[in-house]
Amino acid sequence: MCGIIGYVGELQDAARVVLNGLKKLEYRGYDSWGIAVIPSGSTAVSIEKHIGHISGAETMLPKGSLAIGHTRWATHGGVTEANAHPHVSCGGDIIVVHNGIIENFQELRDELSQHTFLSQTDTEVIPHLMEEYGKIPLEQAVSKALQRVKGSYAILVFSTREPEKMIAVRKESPLVIGLSSNGFFAASDAVPFLEYTTKAVDLDDGEMAVITRHHVEYYDIPSMAKKEKQQKKITWTAEAASKGDNAHYMIKEILEQPSALRNAVVQDKQKLTAFAKEVMNAKNLKLVACGTSRHAAIIGRYLFTKLGKKPADVYIASEFSYFADSSDADTVILAVSQSGETADVLDGLRKAKGKGARILSIVNVMGSTIDRMSDITLYLNCGPEVGVASTKAFLNQLAVFYLVAYTMAGKTEEGAKQIKDAAHVVEESIKLNNEKMKMLAQTIKKFEHVYFLARGVNFPIAIEGALKLKEISYVHAEGMPAGELKHGTLALIEKGTPVILINPTDYTYSDSLSNGMETKARGAFLIGLSNQINPVYDFFIQLPTPSNELLYPLVATVPLQLLAYYTACEKGLNPDKPRNLAKSVTVK
Ligand code: AGP
Repeated sequence: MCGIIGYVGELQDAARVVLNGLKKLEYRGYDSWGIAVIPSGSTAVSIEKHIGHISGAETMLPKGSLAIGHTRWATHGGVTEANAHPHVSCGGDIIVVHNGIIENFQELRDELSQHTFLSQTDTEVIPHLMEEYGKIPLEQAVSKALQRVKGSYAILVFSTREPEKMIAVRKESPLVIGLSSNGFFAASDAVPFLEYTTKAVDLDDGEMAVITRHHVEYYDIPSMAKKEKQQKKITWTAEAASKGDNAHYMIKEILEQPSALRNAVVQDKQKLTAFAKEVMNAKNLKLVACGTSRHAAIIGRYLFTKLGKKPADVYIASEFSYFADSSDADTVILAVSQSGETADVLDGLRKAKGKGARILSIVNVMGSTIDRMSDITLYLNCGPEVGVASTKAFLNQLAVFYLVAYTMAGKTEEGAKQIKDAAHVVEESIKLNNEKMKMLAQTIKKFEHVYFLARGVNFPIAIEGALKLKEISYVHAEGMPAGELKHGTLALIEKGTPVILINPTDYTYSDSLSNGMETKARGAFLIGLSNQINPVYDFFIQLPTPSNELLYPLVATVPLQLLAYYTACEKGLNPDKPRNLAKSVTVK
């Protein structure tokens, strides 16, 4: 998804500050980027735009104290320099960057036909619309223009007519204000300005910040009523958001999972108890998530059933809004999202909330939109997750589900102890398998198709392992319940086809093993993940034995994350920036 950042303050190299900030937003996924600055002592704007990656780039823009920048993930219009942001009015005096989608941009574009458009983007209608209101104060032109706009936006605007002022406005796309001793930031998330400040303010939908070198004022739009906003302290550090001496964020985040898990148990006990009680007492309990977070939700559902005797349904978020009509005041929605900004999840939540449903959420980013929409939020406490492929956030999602399920059973302390024990066996799983997965990756990289099988509480790890492999190494991978194999997919198993079987000696062991043998009988190269070796495996991945068999998903995930990572590296790909993907999918 697009990333935006703006700075205004005492630092005279605002363009470089913004460029460094854009580099920290790379993980959101993009294909082009641009920066605009008002050079010191000038009233003309300087702009640079580029296609391709930003890492290693230096800016040629002049010094100045106000700049805005943008990484673009193309939605309307191809990947071209002209379509890269910032976008400018005909008079060249209004400059805009935008994250979101303007749904009525064509209608507005037709209305503005006397303007000269230089791009095919939806965003470009904003500066031209503002221009229609003439030389009124910038914040008023922004407010008036946005009353005509339908859709989602986080926008930053400045004008050469008021060169000391930056306007930030949000509706359904994230925007956070950073408050530092030498100036102010506005960005899609806090990571780009963490090295300057951990003091921040979250903008809410329909709010505007008018930012100058020495202060920030907040308004409701379109009323332009002034408002006070609560400051927050960001608990993340710049160091936590950096790669350190790791080759990629992904391997850093895989290796820090044991310590992340120990942080998962640090929960507000009152909130955890209230959360578990709402889950227990819900008449209709619906878990809603996307991608890896949905895989965690499926395991959460198993744990609620096994430990809390509580049934629940899990919905793919992009499908959930078609079911949202079935939500009512007796419905409890439990949203699971690392970023807390996933548009598909937000869409369903808004609809269900409108029907009176209670909203619970498990998220990583405090102050995210899903967090702020929720009646109760539990946090993952795993620190910033920068790699596009979710790893430590996934394990912490499982840990939080485990804690909630044990709390439902009245055994919170027991649950916390088991997760702390799990951190040790996850550490052991990394030690046992790091080098071994490097080796296996040299085999897997040669294949086009890989199949992942598992049963029961381990089944979601089969689909999670498949997602990891395909999203960063581009190997086609399919995960499924092992028992489902013979209902079709077995037809695809040929001599040498890699089949990865998650096969711990838990309640699923013998049935899963026999499914693995069915593939072996048809020539598969059978890779067994288990705490017990078996001669039927052509390649054995040792799993340490956790204190409780329901913890095997945590232990089995780690080698599959490592396998995906090393396979991508073996293929010369960048695991942190997989093609076409974004870390936070803030558009539907
Ligand atoms: C996982 O590796 C992917 N990056 C993706 O499936 C991700 O889990 C999904 O987009 C949901 O993101 P969220 O947890 O931030 O809502």
